[in-house]
Amino acid sequence: MTDFPSGYPATASEAFALLGTRARLSAEDMKVMALIEQTAEGFYMALARATDNSEVAGLLQRNGNEERGHAHRLVKALGLLGAPFALPQIELNPYHSDLHFDALDGDFLANLEQSELGGDKNYQTWADNEPHAEVARLLRQNGKEESRHSERVAKARALLSAASH
Ligand SMILES: [Fe+2]
Ligand SMILES: [Fe+2]
Repeated sequence: MTDFPSGYPATASEAFALLGTRARLSAEDMKVMALIEQTAEGFYMALARATDNSEVAGLLQRNGNEERGHAHRLVKALGLLGAPFALPQIELNPYHSDLHFDALDGDFLANLEQSELGGDKNYQTWADNEPHAEVARLLRQNGKEESRHSERVAKARALLSAASH
């Protein structure tokens, strides 16, 4: 059975905002971040289903696959810190919800670009303050990929905007 950290906000976005105020992640924080990352895969897959542009869908799916990788990297980091954690089945993740998007909205994607960049910044801050060198490296790697996600979302947005003109 997975032991979910208690005392955290009920939604992924509020929990993410709280973790963004931390200079360094505690093990409990890292478990929460792993759960958030786990739901990010489904978020991107739901976005990918909202377009019939296969190039755009492919960019979003790649981001989704990497979000799953982020969750697994955090699980690995928790193991290194002596706080083993197993990801739950997605349906049991407290931040999971079935998402559906009718369409991809340009403003929504522009906001997503910014929040991915913010995600990189968070990870770099957490890595800067993480004494365990290998854990810090894992955090930095996740962060670097968040910036790449931002670039892919920007590309998706450009493709959609070109197609609509
Ligand atoms: Fe991520
Ligand atoms: Fe991301």
